[in-house]
Amino acid sequence: MLILGIDTSCDDTSASVVEDGSRIISNIVSNQTEIHKKYGGIVPELASRRHIEMIWPVAGEALRTAGVTLEDLACIAVCHGPGLIGSLLVGCSFAKALCYSKGIPCVAVNHLEGHIFASFLEEPKPDFPFLALVVSGGHTSIYKVAGFGEYQELGRTRDDAAGEAYDKVSKLLGLGYPGGPIIDNLAREGNPASIGFPRAYLPESLDFSFSGLKTAVLNYLRTTEGRGNTTARGPETGTPELADIAASFQAAIIDVLVRKTERALKQEQAGRLVLSGGVAANRELRRRMTEMGNEKGFEVFMPSLSLCTDNAAMIAAAGYHHFKAGHFAGPDLNPVAYLPLS
Ligand code: KG4
Ligand code: ZN
Repeated sequence: MLILGIDTSCDDTSASVVEDGSRIISNIVSNQTEIHKKYGGIVPELASRRHIEMIWPVAGEALRTAGVTLEDLACIAVCHGPGLIGSLLVGCSFAKALCYSKGIPCVAVNHLEGHIFASFLEEPKPDFPFLALVVSGGHTSIYKVAGFGEYQELGRTRDDAAGEAYDKVSKLLGLGYPGGPIIDNLAREGNPASIGFPRAYLPESLDFSFSGLKTAVLNYLRTTEGRGNTTARGPETGTPELADIAASFQAAIIDVLVRKTERALKQEQAGRLVLSGGVAANRELRRRMTEMGNEKGFEVFMPSLSLCTDNAAMIAAAGYHHFKAGHFAGPDLNPVAYLPLS
């Protein structure tokens, strides 16, 4: 059973053909980094316009690469939220038009559900139940996943998402956008113990908070002698101090993510963890989560890097289960910017 997945939730235009919800036949992602980087972040209006330009070429390439036509599809699975409303609108309108004109069923997929189901596109696949830590540019949440459609949010960020913290701190350090991969690389050259940035453990809950950490980095840059002019910094300077700040910031984020995830696993007596979302592409987070799993006896599942960041294969993977359950979307399907999973 072939499904065409479509994701235009943020700044990546993606289309993918997936067989039986688990085998990727093609997965095309057109990213917009070049457009947004000069503004230091995503400009929603520019993102929507670029999606309009790219949606047909990207969907066409996904079908061509897979060697299939629209007639071969069982359905089209489209992400309808959460995300940037103008961006989502492009994918939803495109999918609905295609489904209507070709008489193909349409299913709507929550983007966060997609991130969780990315782990079913590779071997080994997790068995239910498991806990899922979704860490992306817009979300940081821990879910208990009992089965398809059975999600319970155990904790979430009360302010910034982990990826948002990476992006904002990267901007403060004059390192550019997107901050996650830049800090991931730079931090490898720095000493993570050089600056003791705060860790907000919020011991009474499984929630997260990262905005204080961002402020702590800002205060550090303002108050430390000789470090006032952050805009003069840049990757080209290659100063060891900058790498130390990046590594210390990253250590603070990862300490919290790992320790709280471990607490959630113990509290729920869960044996399996799925790590997903753009920040799950971070090499140090992957290493630390794997280490924690090995030490404490939890199985840890992490999609490959390209399946952690936004892609349409994960939408098709989750869409497969909606299709089997008969959850079809009609022409009245509308995108939703705020769409909690549970
Ligand atoms: O899942 P995603 O592609 O889009 C959203 O749904 O938000 O996640 C994007 C976020 C961005 O904040 C980006 O900086 C972060 O994921 N990210 C990373 C890495 N790669 C992407 N953060 C840390 N380390 C990385 N290697
Ligand atoms: Zn995402």
